[in-house]
Amino acid sequence: MKTQYYAASSLDGFIATEDDSLDWLFMLGNVDESSYPAFIAEVGALAMGSATYEWMLRHADEVARETGSAWPYIQPVWIFSTRELQAIAGAESHFVRGDVRPVHAEMSKAAGPKNIWIVGGGDLAGQFYDAGLLDEIIVQVGSVTLGKGKPLFPRRLVAPPLTLVSVQQFGSGFAELRYQVPKSAP
Ligand SMILES: NC(=O)c1ccc[n+]([C@@H]2O[C@H](COP(=O)([O-])OP(=O)(O)OC[C@H]3O[C@@H](n4cnc5c(N)ncnc54)[C@H](OP(=O)(O)O)[C@@H]3O)[C@@H](O)[C@H]2O)c1
Repeated sequence: MKTQYYAASSLDGFIATEDDSLDWLFMLGNVDESSYPAFIAEVGALAMGSATYEWMLRHADEVARETGSAWPYIQPVWIFSTRELQAIAGAESHFVRGDVRPVHAEMSKAAGPKNIWIVGGGDLAGQFYDAGLLDEIIVQVGSVTLGKGKPLFPRRLVAPPLTLVSVQQFGSGFAELRYQVPKSAP
């Protein structure tokens, strides 16, 4: 079982624009022709921050059109927020806040032998990293720059550096980089 931060980023390191738009992402390629189907098949539990969750709420119609359901995950999800958020029908959702370590323990139990996906945002992935709980970072680097926006991973991770495990091209829109997080980090 691994804890993986899997996300798409612009070439200049942003996972969304400042106003949480992902329009730039969807025009770069078809998700079915990416690593996503194989990746999600091995995921047993998901974690996301409230901005990511609220994006799903705001785009429920679009998500339903694309995937057949307003909530496309069969796995349980842990949503981090200090606020009360509306639940999505059909989702096994756990609303949590604060320290990621006890949440990770709960998620591990639920995931069993499968992986834990930190969906985003970047700081939430950073919180798992800070706690020594992040094993892999998998980034689809899109062929666009955004100038500014929500950061991919707002941490200084220098020594030891990440270990680059693989590089794969998906069409002309994405280069996927897979990194192992060193055991001694942070
Ligand atoms: N390109 C991609 O692959 C990709 C992947 C994921 C997300 N995204 C997009 O990127 C953007 C991410 O937004 P974001 O960077 O703002 O991150 P986010 O993690 O989705 O949301 C951040 C918010 O989550 C809550 N939170 C985070 N950690 C918490 C903790 N430990 N305890 C309690 N609450 C906590 C806080 O808000 P409150 O307490 O106010 O609720 C915080 O402001 C979204 O637009 C999303 O749709 C893109």
